[in-house]
Amino acid sequence: MLRNLLSFALAGLLMPRATAVPTATHSSPTPSVTTSATGKLVFCHFMIGITSNRNSASDYDDDMKRAKALGIDAFALNIGVDPYTDTQLNYAYQSAATNGMKVFISFDFNWYSTSQGSTIGAKIKQYANMPAQLKVDGKVFVSSFAGDGVDVNAIKSAAGQDLYFAPNFHPGTGDFSAVQGALNWMAWPNNGDNKAPTPGHDVSVADGDQAYMNALQGKSYIAPASAWFSTHFGSEVSYSKNWVFPSDLLWYQRWSQILTLSPRFVEIITWNDYGESHYIGPLSSPHTDDGSSKWAMDMPHDGWLQMSKPFIAAYKAGDSSPLKYITDEQLVYWYRPTPKNVNCDSTDTTTEGNPNNSSGNFFRGRPNGASTMADAVFVVSLLKSPANVVVQSGNQAPRTFAAPAGINAFTVPMGLGQQKFAVTRGDNNQTVLSGTSLKEIVDSCICGIYNFNAYVGTLPAPASIDRLQPAGLASLSVGLRAPCPTNTLGA
Ligand SMILES: *[C@@H]1O[C@H](CO)[C@@H](O)[C@H](O)[C@H]1NC(C)=O
Ligand SMILES: *[C@@H]1O[C@H](CO)[C@@H](O)[C@H](O)[C@H]1NC(C)=O
Ligand SMILES: *[C@@H]1O[C@H](CO)[C@@H](O)[C@H](O)[C@H]1NC(C)=O
Repeated sequence: MLRNLLSFALAGLLMPRATAVPTATHSSPTPSVTTSATGKLVFCHFMIGITSNRNSASDYDDDMKRAKALGIDAFALNIGVDPYTDTQLNYAYQSAATNGMKVFISFDFNWYSTSQGSTIGAKIKQYANMPAQLKVDGKVFVSSFAGDGVDVNAIKSAAGQDLYFAPNFHPGTGDFSAVQGALNWMAWPNNGDNKAPTPGHDVSVADGDQAYMNALQGKSYIAPASAWFSTHFGSEVSYSKNWVFPSDLLWYQRWSQILTLSPRFVEIITWNDYGESHYIGPLSSPHTDDGSSKWAMDMPHDGWLQMSKPFIAAYKAGDSSPLKYITDEQLVYWYRPTPKNVNCDSTDTTTEGNPNNSSGNFFRGRPNGASTMADAVFVVSLLKSPANVVVQSGNQAPRTFAAPAGINAFTVPMGLGQQKFAVTRGDNNQTVLSGTSLKEIVDSCICGIYNFNAYVGTLPAPASIDRLQPAGLASLSVGLRAPCPTNTLGA
């Protein structure tokens, strides 16, 4: 794809000025967000488990509107068995209907057991006739997290109807003859055992695509797309877990891959899982604090949401290039707030107490997999015509890149201090965009912890700063052993 973009850019340079930019596509609107001629749909995983504090359907409106405007067709509503689940599902279905969105249930088998086929079928039936229920090929769409071995016939029988069942079964484990499609959750390079790759144990996301497509034999594949993975829960909660997957430029690389792969469905992981740092929805989206505010506070990800918009439009149109779907020129940049060698052991939340490690997911100190992350600033340009991208990370000399038209990525080694960005163009290097990030890179431990989440910024900068609301900050101090300046961006 890069080669195509480059040759397009070069062709543009050789053409007369008036036709140098792809004018034919500028005037056409972005394709409709709810239907596509290709039948391709984009889902986004939404955690109901942290939205128990919502009081009405309208509390879901902002999420529904934002997702729809982005081109997302349906939220996959991840549910467990909490007492508030039905209240929140009803609000979400109602808000989706009001806002022209679709939703479906994604049963989380961390909480459901595979012996509960008829309970699951009954839950599906409860929502099946609501107007916002996603239907594919006329059938109620249902998905899951895990669930290999659940009795699909028991589910369908209790649901009282045929279903479009696309669970997160695993190749070699789940019964793929019983499903209409399947979701691959592994959106990150890994070691084949739910941790970061190690030498000799390196499974790419594309390897996962291949394994699923082989198992599905032409049935619908829900390809995962995620921007990041970092989680850092210590003994302050009962679900202690502390690892990263290499993420770096993953969001850019994965979307580029998806345009080539062109699967039937894509699922963005996730809208609001702050705990694993893969949210693309706002920090301000109403939610409770599962302890993730320690690394989500001051770390907006809205730039990732914006960056995916032209990719989503291209994917749904079956187009291998996002170029003509760029409506506004932008720079999206991201980086971790500290270099990985900074030592936080004396104040970190994972270095004290004796958490239950029956999950095998708990590690002390620097997150497991930390060495697979690069100390770098990642920059993605969304340009209608070629320009220069200028990055100055801390006290290092500015670096300039020739950026072709389209969406392209650049990497600069991390420098301590302020992070400055610009886009210039033309004979006089006229400034198109420029600005300084609200977040500095520091060699100290913010709030005392190892924070391997990413700060995501954009040019133009957003009109207002996205912040966690009080409920989303409620557990900030729990377990902390150092001062924690709060909501500092722009302060
Ligand atoms: C650890 O957690 C597991 C899973 O929740 C539980 O079954 C086990 O009893 C716990 N062990 C201790 C010592 O609390
Ligand atoms: C937790 O379990 C995993 C898997 O067995 C192990 O690799 C890890 O070292 C354990 N964590 C601690 C702190 O012992
Ligand atoms: C514009 O910027 C580029 C990259 O820094 C540089 O190579 C070029 O000489 C500049 N052109 C002018 C006219 O200043």
